[in-house]
Amino acid sequence: MNRSTETRSKESLPYSGYHQSWTGQGDDELTRVGPNTPCGEYLRRFWHPVAMTSDLGERPKLIRILGEDLVLFRDKGERVGLVHRRCPHRRASLEFGVTEERGIRCCYHGWLFDVDGTTLEAPGQPAQVEKQICENVTLGAYPVKEFKGLIFAYMGPPGLKPVFPVYDTFDLPGQTLVPYTAPFHCNWLQVLDAIVDPIHTAFLHSRISREQFSEGFGEIGKMKFYKRRTTFLGTAARRVGDNVWVRTNELVLPNFTQAGAAFSADGTRQLYYSRTSFVRWVVPIDDEETLCFAWAVFGERADPDEYNTPEGPELIEQGEVFDRSYEEKQRCPADAEATEGMGPITEHNKEHLVASDQGIVMYRRRLRSLIRDLQDGKEPAHATDDWQDGPIPTFGGDTVVQKPKNGGDDAVTLRNIGRAVMEVQFEAEGLPETDRVAKVVACLKQIETDEMLYGETTRSD
Ligand code: FES
Ligand SMILES: [Fe+2]
Repeated sequence: MNRSTETRSKESLPYSGYHQSWTGQGDDELTRVGPNTPCGEYLRRFWHPVAMTSDLGERPKLIRILGEDLVLFRDKGERVGLVHRRCPHRRASLEFGVTEERGIRCCYHGWLFDVDGTTLEAPGQPAQVEKQICENVTLGAYPVKEFKGLIFAYMGPPGLKPVFPVYDTFDLPGQTLVPYTAPFHCNWLQVLDAIVDPIHTAFLHSRISREQFSEGFGEIGKMKFYKRRTTFLGTAARRVGDNVWVRTNELVLPNFTQAGAAFSADGTRQLYYSRTSFVRWVVPIDDEETLCFAWAVFGERADPDEYNTPEGPELIEQGEVFDRSYEEKQRCPADAEATEGMGPITEHNKEHLVASDQGIVMYRRRLRSLIRDLQDGKEPAHATDDWQDGPIPTFGGDTVVQKPKNGGDDAVTLRNIGRAVMEVQFEAEGLPETDRVAKVVACLKQIETDEMLYGETTRSD
């Protein structure tokens, strides 16, 4: 609808640069992650990956997570410790410490600390003084868990350490998990947004750049968003010839993400209940830096083994490798260019959110309410709350069913099939894996023959 120039705001008129030159603001409540910030407190209620096992050698490693400078080390007894960077004596950095059979020794005056931060020795002091130091001075430390090539840490209040969440995709038969990291030089929320933004694949990864994945991604498809406990799903149902391809992106709050295949699914061949191609956490380094820790997943129900190469995970992650020339980045922008180009922390109050941003609106709203609840003393929900006895069911993946057009309203057909494919998975979510696969696949085959899923025929003949 054309509005007359009298009724339009100054900012919406042509050549309105002058009126838009004000500096916007990031959403502090959702973007600030340091100690004692509302979002930082919330994030500190969860386990987060902080390093890859392959990154931790004989020497201590300086890392930064949630705005805290930390030192990660493996002592000679093979235990992993994550401690505050500065020694409690006179603040020397433990990155220059020496690992011992038990713990890490500060380089400056030789105090020795266990992996839990306990002071074990303070040499050069009278015995009574050393005893007092050991009893009263502790180095800040966090619990860690090494798992399948990633090292996870819990940085919250010790008494509230949650169960380590095990998702169903950690251990699917025939799948290989390959750890990788992906750096984004911007705030974590900008990186997280992309997972519940299925429409961007049609533009960034296809029409604008080039076909970074496959031709089918260029179709916008019919989108639908779901909110289930702490899980948010964005599905896109696309028409590819005689097939309908339903792709599901997934976010489990606060920062666990999965999606369908980057390369093995293109909509051209039937695919029943394929699973995610990456199992990934979007971890804030601080307010302006993010590091995704993930496993790239290879196998029959994920991405093909030929992408199990050094570059493979980067291509799966964002469609292009990270280390490219500026000119190449301009020619073929990928997720890094889209998210980092917004600036270190985007100006949220200058965004214009539209219907296709519904998933982003939904999850940010829930995130904000969880952060506020915690400020009011209510501890946040965890995915493990509902799945005490087995892995947490997840939904990121692809399904391609054969469903040729029938002359009816194909937009309606796509919507119906998209919804039916997800409902089948929701109904089967509590079943053991083998039963779950059998049930979902059987129901997906029924979708192919179910005439009721077609949109109404609009032709008069
Ligand atoms: S500063 Fe670490 S032992 Fe003195
Ligand atoms: Fe993307």
